[in-house]
Amino acid sequence: MLKTKISGVGMYVPSNVVANIDLLKYMDTSDEWIQERTGIKERRFAHRTEETTTTMGVAAAKTAIERAGITAQDIDFIIFATLSPDYYFPGCGVLLQRAMKMKEIGALDVRNQCSGFIYALSVGDQFIKTGMYKNILVVGAEKHSFGLDFSTRGRNVSVIFGDGAGAVVLQPSSNDSRILSTHLHSDGESAEILAMYNPGTHANHWVDQKVADFDDAAIAEMFMSHAMIDKAQLFPNMDGPAVFKKAVEKFPEVIMEALKTNNFQTSDIRFLIPHQANLRISQFVQRKLGLSDEQVYNNIQKYGNTTAASIPIALCEAWQEGKIKEGDLICLAAFGSGFTWASALIKW
Ligand code: ACO
Repeated sequence: MLKTKISGVGMYVPSNVVANIDLLKYMDTSDEWIQERTGIKERRFAHRTEETTTTMGVAAAKTAIERAGITAQDIDFIIFATLSPDYYFPGCGVLLQRAMKMKEIGALDVRNQCSGFIYALSVGDQFIKTGMYKNILVVGAEKHSFGLDFSTRGRNVSVIFGDGAGAVVLQPSSNDSRILSTHLHSDGESAEILAMYNPGTHANHWVDQKVADFDDAAIAEMFMSHAMIDKAQLFPNMDGPAVFKKAVEKFPEVIMEALKTNNFQTSDIRFLIPHQANLRISQFVQRKLGLSDEQVYNNIQKYGNTTAASIPIALCEAWQEGKIKEGDLICLAAFGSGFTWASALIKW
């Protein structure tokens, strides 16, 4: 069986820095509240008319491809993870294929929100290991700033998120560097706790008590209506405390699963790179696992929560800072909407 290595990493964040105090223009919040509850100091917002999830993904991909020492023409499969695609359909994978003038290769979109990048990495790993592909591009990108409620009503969600993209190139490994294992999980029982319901084909099935109150019974109105806009039902919905509770249970569980599978202990980890959900969640996980500050990489302070992009951005930044060396044991872990959660253990 072949082994998979990450041979190039790239990231892109928009130049527009939005500090916590900048959000005061739109909503009743404070720098203290945001920092205390989330650790976030600032985030990046994409240029409104010039940048999309795809353009940011392309920028990150270009760097990753260059660092892998290949060209866009060498890529033989694309996996694109995002919850904020340019279009409802088609997905960002084909838009990236077009923008980068790649060959007529397969393009797969992954919709696993905060766990999206690790799910995508795992899929890519299987294709490399079976010998099906040799140069896979995995991208995680989000343009959250276009879909958040920036009024006081949406402040518990909107202060958390930022825009950006990260990418890696996967290739067969000829040495010891490799993805040791990936672990994917889901539990749809609480799917609506962290979700954006509309537009969707749920046919008003379950939202009755929670958000739906349609004035018009026409079918199209159930998908998208003026009432949804008026009632702010086109924005993400999150039960923050419930997410926190589940996240601090599942993060350690899936990290330990990765370590046990490969006969390692927490002390063997050079870097845990968790999905940058919330600094308080990462700190809770760190304490629960007894990891030192030096073993956990966090950059949510600068970028906010960039969902599918957060892990590849953090991985890339840690690598660019010279903090990841050959042979290091790197653990990626994520938890998010679905709920889904996942980990990947990597020998760099
Ligand atoms: N600024 C000021 N006050 C606010 C803000 C804000 N941005 N948001 C909420 N508040 C207020 C609320 O109105 C409420 O006021 P009240 O007591 O007068 O009614 C009070 O703060 C507490 O509100 P909660 O929603 O209970 O806030 P909580 O203390 O739980 O903090 C938070 C919210 C930070 C989201 C927290 O629940 C949390 O950390 N949850 C984990 C979920 C998370 O981090 N998700 C990230 C995205 S999902 C993912 O990536 C997995």
